[in-house]
Amino acid sequence: MTARDIAPATGKLGVLTPGLGAVASTFIAGVLTARQQGVAPLGSVSQMAHIRLGTREEGRNPLIKDFAPIATLDDIVFGGWDPISANALEAARTCGVLEEKDLAPISSELEGVVAMDAVFDQRWVSRLDGTRVKSETNKWDQAMALMADIENFRTENDCDRLVMVWCGSTEAFQEPSAVHDTVAAFEQGLKDNDDNISPSQIYVYAALQSDVPFANGAPNLSTDLPCMLELSKTRGVPIAGKDFKTGQTLMKTLLAPGLKARMLGLEGWYSTNILGNRDGEVLDAPENFKTKEESKLGVLHKILEPEVYPELYGDVDHVVRINYYPPRGDNKEGWDAVDIFGWMGYKMQIKIDFLCRDSILAAPIVLDLALFMDLAMRAGESGVQEWLSFYLKAPQSAGDAPAEQDLFIQQTKLKNTLREWMGEQPVTHSEVG
Ligand SMILES: NC(=O)c1ccc[n+]([C@@H]2O[C@H](COP(=O)([O-])OP(=O)(O)OC[C@H]3O[C@@H](n4cnc5c(N)ncnc54)[C@H](O)[C@@H]3O)[C@@H](O)[C@H]2O)c1
Repeated sequence: MTARDIAPATGKLGVLTPGLGAVASTFIAGVLTARQQGVAPLGSVSQMAHIRLGTREEGRNPLIKDFAPIATLDDIVFGGWDPISANALEAARTCGVLEEKDLAPISSELEGVVAMDAVFDQRWVSRLDGTRVKSETNKWDQAMALMADIENFRTENDCDRLVMVWCGSTEAFQEPSAVHDTVAAFEQGLKDNDDNISPSQIYVYAALQSDVPFANGAPNLSTDLPCMLELSKTRGVPIAGKDFKTGQTLMKTLLAPGLKARMLGLEGWYSTNILGNRDGEVLDAPENFKTKEESKLGVLHKILEPEVYPELYGDVDHVVRINYYPPRGDNKEGWDAVDIFGWMGYKMQIKIDFLCRDSILAAPIVLDLALFMDLAMRAGESGVQEWLSFYLKAPQSAGDAPAEQDLFIQQTKLKNTLREWMGEQPVTHSEVG
């Protein structure tokens, strides 16, 4: 196979996050700690995982970061926007994910990541009262102001390249409308201050117009709109979405493929969560929870294929609940009651109680998405990066068939994409590492 012509990762890579809350500050703190103290970036596939090349007998198994020309942690510069947090240190202290002993050695660097004023509209996130907000009221002007921020950041930090990963709050539920059909309609909508255009969509527009790849870590509509797909193709800039795959959905995409592999039936899957961070508070509003619910519910259907296996998965009750419970902060507890059936229809139950830390699971995903989106840009990609579905709860499809949800198939697709780009044979059977 011939390798792709991939531009080298020279110079600095700016990682911009709209949203400087729990996930973004934990991501930044982890990279700074890895850089300063050599602490392993656990959970990051780009940094920790190996990739087998050729046949098993060849014994070639380099680290992904030594194999694919991705930027190094030392190359990264951080930036972001937030309507509430002043800087990454304040954000980290407010969300309380990391302990003071871990923040102290990197506090001045965190404080140096100062949030730019956000494009924010409370109608989309009713529970938040933003104060650090841009003064422009017209949406076209807001887009231009974001593009000016991007260029200033690029120049001031001497960045060779930039990527953007949405780490902002989940916006209220919305269906696409006519204003999202084409780039021309969207631009007219920006000028007309169309009510159907949400803040996150203005960030995507500004990023793509500035040749900055964009990944969406939340479930709201943004990269998954026809106008954004069109813009990403015409500008030659990659996009990916949506919703970081962490916590309960990660467990679901681990377990469901296993049940299906053994042809065990599923009668119902009840998932409930308690969490007490700002994300939980935002999701306590029904219109914002609906956005999350849609994203979480799609997972099982795609994995289990009820149309192919009606007697096993044709009638599954799938329920997802999130309850805001302040005492837990960012330490979410997710319970799953899974009702399965086997030989001769006999019923069994599985219970999962996952005492997880949301931002600890999400932070390495932000890092990997940023590094791989930058790689995709240098490899000449545009449009949806379906090979990054591995990281996403409701992955966008690059074609007509729905995107894969099974974590292990997603892992193979990610590694095979890297193999192909680097001129190595794809691995066609399930691999172990
Ligand atoms: N933590 C996880 O495991 C996980 C998993 C999947 C998805 N997500 C999503 O990632 C996002 C971030 O999660 P979090 O736990 O950091 O939440 P958070 O509430 O701590 O941080 C979100 C930040 O976004 C800011 N914000 C809101 N609107 C904005 C705008 N228009 N522009 C810029 N900033 C804006 C808020 O002020 C807040 O500081 C949420 O949408 C969440 O649903 C998180």
